[in-house]
Amino acid sequence: MNEMPAKESTGEASETFTLTDNRTGRSFQLPVQTGTDGPPVVDIRKLYAEAGIFTYDPGFTSTGSCESKITFIDGDRGVLHHRGYSIEDLAENSDFMEVCYLLLYGDLPNRDEKDTFENTITRHTMLHDQMAQFFRGFRRDAHPMAIMVGVVGAMSAFYHDSTDINDPHQRMVASHRLIAKMPTIAAMAYKYSIGQPFQYPRNDLKYAENFLNMTFAVPCEKYEISPTLSRAMDRIFILHADHEQNASTSTVRLAGSSGANPFACIAAGIASLWGPAHGGANEAVLNMLMEIGSVDRIPEYLDKAKDKDDPFRLMGFGHRVYKNHDPRAGVLRKSAHEVLDELGIENEPLLELARELERIALEDEYFAEKKLFPNVDFYSGIILRAMGFPTSMFTVLFALARTAGWIAQWKEMIEDPVQKIGRPRQLYTGPDLRSYTQLDQR
Ligand code: SDX
Repeated sequence: MNEMPAKESTGEASETFTLTDNRTGRSFQLPVQTGTDGPPVVDIRKLYAEAGIFTYDPGFTSTGSCESKITFIDGDRGVLHHRGYSIEDLAENSDFMEVCYLLLYGDLPNRDEKDTFENTITRHTMLHDQMAQFFRGFRRDAHPMAIMVGVVGAMSAFYHDSTDINDPHQRMVASHRLIAKMPTIAAMAYKYSIGQPFQYPRNDLKYAENFLNMTFAVPCEKYEISPTLSRAMDRIFILHADHEQNASTSTVRLAGSSGANPFACIAAGIASLWGPAHGGANEAVLNMLMEIGSVDRIPEYLDKAKDKDDPFRLMGFGHRVYKNHDPRAGVLRKSAHEVLDELGIENEPLLELARELERIALEDEYFAEKKLFPNVDFYSGIILRAMGFPTSMFTVLFALARTAGWIAQWKEMIEDPVQKIGRPRQLYTGPDLRSYTQLDQR
């Protein structure tokens, strides 16, 4: 049986926040809601109706879009908790299947719950065989993220028995299918890009082992699965599983708020994650390290990163929320050494370059003043490259892992009694009303 549930907050309003409109002298009492941890929120849902004014927050940096019990981040303390468990604790002691269960259902599973969940996921790893045809429609050099967006979206065309978002059973089946099939689709995208035959999933393998086998095994010889590499892969999946209301998770929630089916919502999340400012950063970090090339060129690139007229940014540094260290980067830095040692890679020049870049950047006052620390993407690419993945697959692996968080957040939104279709407003600064001018008069 699970231990007593951890302290949670009801999110009920307890105090008020007074807003005064100095243009009219009117004051408004807005309810304040306090959560389990983190800043309280002022509930502005009635503000427009009562005061005739919108709030304005491009990028939603100061706006809570929802109430959630799944993940908590404190950017100043470098804290990341999933359902109350620290990411360090989970990365050290748990595995990705447990974390998927925790994100979806709120508690760590007991032995029976874990076995049942793991067996269910294992037996959903095969893709409808006709879906393999989709891959053949892509160029061999298509970016695998383009393939992921297309094939995951196309799941809506095959799994009609799990697209009714109002049926809890269908929502559960869709969640299981997505977590189970993402590794299969990701491995197929890789195999297609290198012209090798697709490898079927195997039910005798654990989740991360199965993915490595589908990715790197070939029919001509036995593929030896390294326990260290599958442990590192599983840990990388844990570290990327969920992260509050980041850009791609907010995309999934917004798509889901219209009633779109879960496969379409996850495809939208994949598209959003692809951006280099978000999940695409791990690929951009490797490309940046290869462009810098050597330690003696680091100062030149740090200057570019500081130059407001230069669009170059130090990829893998900075974060919208973490203004202290990203706890995931620390775990990944440690894993990088384990993987390279296991592979017998003594002096991986890119790892040396990354560590020197981190050291110099962290001593630089610009980065210190802007609170720019290495984020989750800084070290992940080095590990994935050492494991044999091409750079173009890095964000695919991020999407594979983040599917657990996306689908847990989607489930929470669908089950939230106050959820409604997302519809932000705006400050309109375009032209005032004007009459149509005939073409020959323009
Ligand atoms: C992820 O949201 C999440 O949780 C995302 C994620 C997740 O798990 O879902 O954690 C995954 O996306 C990690 C971030 C990966 N992206 C990168 O590594 C790309 C490089 N980083 C930057 O693009 C940037 O740091 C962001 C986009 C990540 C954060 O942007 P912010 O918080 O909006 O910061 P900002 O753009 O307002 O920058 C603040 C200042 C600016 O200078 P000023 O305008 O104040 O003078 O810091 C500077 C920026 O120019 N700055 C950088 C920089 N990041 C910010 N300068 C150089 N290099 C950088 N990397």
